[in-house]
Amino acid sequence: MLKPTILSVEDLVVKYGDRPTAIDCRRHKADTRFTAVNHVSFELPTGGAVGIVGESGSGKSTILRAIMGLAPVESGNIRFDGHIINMGRFTTQPMTIQMVFQDPGTALDPMMTVGQTISEVLRVHHFVARNKVEQRVRELLDMVALPKKIYESYPRDMSGGQKQRAAIARALAFNPKVFIGDELTSALDVVVQVQVLDLLKQLRKETGMSMLIVTHNLDLVRYLCDEAVVVHHGRIAESGNVTDVFEHPQDQYSRELIAAAPKIIR
Ligand SMILES: Nc1ncnc2c1ncn2[C@@H]1O[C@H](COP(=O)(O)OP(=O)(O)OP(=O)(O)O)[C@@H](O)[C@H]1O
Ligand SMILES: [Mg+2]
Repeated sequence: MLKPTILSVEDLVVKYGDRPTAIDCRRHKADTRFTAVNHVSFELPTGGAVGIVGESGSGKSTILRAIMGLAPVESGNIRFDGHIINMGRFTTQPMTIQMVFQDPGTALDPMMTVGQTISEVLRVHHFVARNKVEQRVRELLDMVALPKKIYESYPRDMSGGQKQRAAIARALAFNPKVFIGDELTSALDVVVQVQVLDLLKQLRKETGMSMLIVTHNLDLVRYLCDEAVVVHHGRIAESGNVTDVFEHPQDQYSRELIAAAPKIIR
């Protein structure tokens, strides 16, 4: 039986740089844009977890940014729950897809405390009753193992790992159907990494949340994901079940990446 799909990326091409104008085309001027993602297709099953791996600059973050409407889609489709969400170059981002970026600071307003930032999400979208907002924020901060005082802290007074966890808490405030993480745990120490991974695993089990994770850490993909997608120079080198891809890689680049893994695991 076919597994239902929550998110699918179909033949996605993303190019950076200025599009050639009509005059450029008439003059047969060469298209000098850089193709960061080149005909990439994969599916995220409902309730499933997919890990995207590949060397630095291979286009992993660009795939995620295209899903979130933050990178220019040249061609191809992104479907959420069966509906195409990229109508033009940029995707409209449903609230039920939440992403935590490689640079965790971007999700937090520098002028607001973490408590205010997350409260705003809950209040604006009416996720909980007004008198329950503070309690829910504290619950979310506790879930990502942040100390209580962080409620009152500004991002500038927090460590990279704390900002990362606050960004995860903010994303979880939306009760997302799809949680997307770019190098989620790279700024965290090993103990907190395990806490955050266990939390995501547990949320996946309890809420049926689907996850799309980008990481350099292949162990993390093994621990968290059912399927792996290996990207190389913007193309998919190999994809499939995590065990198949990691234990019996078919592609030469996948083999090299996996063989080199102990050197790049953080
Ligand atoms: N805004 C941009 N303008 C032009 N080129 C870009 C832009 N963003 C990324 N690129 C280029 O696209 C390619 C893919 O970048 P991307 O950030 O997707 O790589 P990545 O696989 O996430 O790398 P890393 O593991 O280092 O985060 C790189 O060559 C990068 O230089
Ligand atoms: Mg990246």
